[in-house]
Amino acid sequence: MYSVSRICERDVEDVMTFMKRTFFIDEPLYKGVGYCNSASDDTPDLDEFCRAALPGVSLMAKNEEGSIVATLICGISPIVNPTDFLSALKNCKCPKYKKVIQMMILREVIMEIWNIYPNEKQVFEIKMASTDAKWRNKGIMNQLMKEAENAAKELNIRVLRIETSSAYSAKSAERHGYKCVFSRAYTEFMLDGKPLILPEPPHTKDNVYVKELY
Ligand SMILES: CC(C)(COP(=O)(O)OP(=O)(O)OC[C@H]1O[C@@H](n2cnc3c(N)ncnc32)[C@H](O)[C@@H]1OP(=O)(O)O)[C@@H](O)C(=O)NCCC(=O)NCCS
Repeated sequence: MYSVSRICERDVEDVMTFMKRTFFIDEPLYKGVGYCNSASDDTPDLDEFCRAALPGVSLMAKNEEGSIVATLICGISPIVNPTDFLSALKNCKCPKYKKVIQMMILREVIMEIWNIYPNEKQVFEIKMASTDAKWRNKGIMNQLMKEAENAAKELNIRVLRIETSSAYSAKSAERHGYKCVFSRAYTEFMLDGKPLILPEPPHTKDNVYVKELY
């Protein structure tokens, strides 16, 4: 059993601890570059990125003991350049983290999502999804995605967006009726003649999904 609630300012440190032992290690791109191997690794770049996104309009699931078992970190972002990756790249000192940012820049430049929805100013962005390894494949992300949609409706935001580096978050987006607006195999993201990052199967494709609520 678990319960879902909004992440508030007072939850930020617990969420950071949870993200560090789950998402930072297991997310396919970060895992692909070996960015973080244990919760005690030094990860200032991703710490900063994650912290800056919190609490936002984010959601978490807690078990009966009150421990966090899943998160969906969300924010309201401008449709054009939702994240300032160029500044992040300029300030980044870690070569592994740099590769992940380069990957995201390649995706944004190729996709130009703002041309797909030129009349939209804002998007409800699902930035990070993470479930504790013991609680995976039990429908928690699906439940949090449903709650995110309700939050977007309450805020009167018409378009939701999620980038899925994981085959499982892609499945969740599809289950909720999101439309795939970008899909490319990781083998096709090249820099200096080599694929930038090759995550482990089944996470072979980088996808961006969008859902229009009305
Ligand atoms: C991606 C992640 C958040 C999914 O969370 P979850 O709570 O396990 O997801 P759910 O149980 O709601 O499952 C979502 C979908 O993925 C499928 N799925 C999840 N784990 C799976 C597995 N191990 N094998 C096959 N399918 C799986 C489910 O069947 C479901 O598909 P459906 O909606 O078509 O039935 C989780 O795997 C995770 O934390 N991964 C590490 C961090 C990460 O990769 N984050 C996402 C980056 S975009």
